[in-house]
Amino acid sequence: MDIGIDKIGFYVPQNYIDIVELAKARDVDPDKFTIGIGQDKQAVPKPYQDAVTMAASSADSILTAEDKKDLGLLIVGTESSIDESKSTAAFLMDLLELPEDIRAFEIKQACFGATAGLQSAFDFVSLNPGKKALVIATDIARYGIKTPGEVTQGAGSVAMVISENPRILKLEHKSVYMTRNIGDFWRPTFSKTAFARGKFSNQVYVDFFQTLWQKYQAKFDVTANDFSTMLFHIPYTKMGTKALRTLEGKVSDEKYAELTDHYQASIKFSREVGNLYTGSLYLGLLSYLVNGARPNEELLLFSYGSGAVGELYSGQIQPGFDKAINKDKILNLLDNRQKMSIADYEKMYQVEYQNGTIVDPKTVQEKFYLSEIKENERLYKKLN
Ligand code: HMG
Repeated sequence: MDIGIDKIGFYVPQNYIDIVELAKARDVDPDKFTIGIGQDKQAVPKPYQDAVTMAASSADSILTAEDKKDLGLLIVGTESSIDESKSTAAFLMDLLELPEDIRAFEIKQACFGATAGLQSAFDFVSLNPGKKALVIATDIARYGIKTPGEVTQGAGSVAMVISENPRILKLEHKSVYMTRNIGDFWRPTFSKTAFARGKFSNQVYVDFFQTLWQKYQAKFDVTANDFSTMLFHIPYTKMGTKALRTLEGKVSDEKYAELTDHYQASIKFSREVGNLYTGSLYLGLLSYLVNGARPNEELLLFSYGSGAVGELYSGQIQPGFDKAINKDKILNLLDNRQKMSIADYEKMYQVEYQNGTIVDPKTVQEKFYLSEIKENERLYKKLN
């Protein structure tokens, strides 16, 4: 039985900051941010948006009544969760009007959460023929104003329906993974912003990719020639480039040129959005599907979550995949955003809703929003 990604949806907040303007405000050469880091824009969420509202938006963009009826599993991968007890998935039951015979929960392991969800969804669909799973990656990546990580922030969500006879990407059940206890990036429960040993995190990421690529080749007796595309977790677009460069000189010039060319197609959206943490690899997949993919291509996907867990797995693009993606909707979402000044972004960054907040729906521009914090409980609403 073929199992994989049958639908993929995306949500990005409506505001962004321009990376050249950010560089100027921080007295940095803009080339460092646009070339050295490889970003153009950074998504900025509103204070009434969080991991829950963004997850609802990406899922809402793809789910039909038929999908909802067939769902048996809902997994949310996030590291920006808004509750230490209740899962982001539980909040979504009302917002998405899902039937209650669903196993819903949240997975946390830095940026690896959605991949853990995807692999669990594969197992679930294998064991429950006819059922579907919904996997959502949703995050706000934050390091703080004027930190080295500021240029690598971002926000958004990717939702995927996993089913039999997938129309987009067949998962091939070929995978290698590894875990090491590493202090490259962390966010204690008291902090809204992450702490990172930036350069060390880059080294660990590249080391994980190289180790897993060796393991993958040995386990499945393949070489780079068996793949036309490698997709990477993209905290910022230069990061995947660093991993890809480890293949230069080790594969033929033609293969390296092809992989580089396809990588460029996969980072188009990330350049415009920034780090989605759990969703970054899947935004890369979506960007590749919209900007470069061909039917029957063999893809290799590198998932990395600080702390650290890595997984390298393969999939095959399905014939007719483009008909299962609403390309216009995705491009409109990206193109119709509004630029925010750096001064306004800095002001909004400081806003944090406290207990007792009631959000006036007239000020809301998004379909799903945090409406109230009552008795320290976050309550959500949908604009009709
Ligand atoms: P930095 O110290 O400000 O930058 O921090 P830099 O000095 O290393 O410069 C960056 C690049 O710009 C360098 O290129 C410079 O040469 C170049 P590289 O050596 O990397 O190829 N550069 C220029 N290029 C053109 N023109 C110029 C110029 N000047 C310099 N004028 C850093 C950069 C990424 C470390 C920082 O932003 C940071 O700490 N970010 C957060 C951590 C991070 O994203 N790590 C990635 C790996 S870990 C991961 O992926 C997991 C994660 O997503 C979290 C999770 O799993 O949950 C982060």
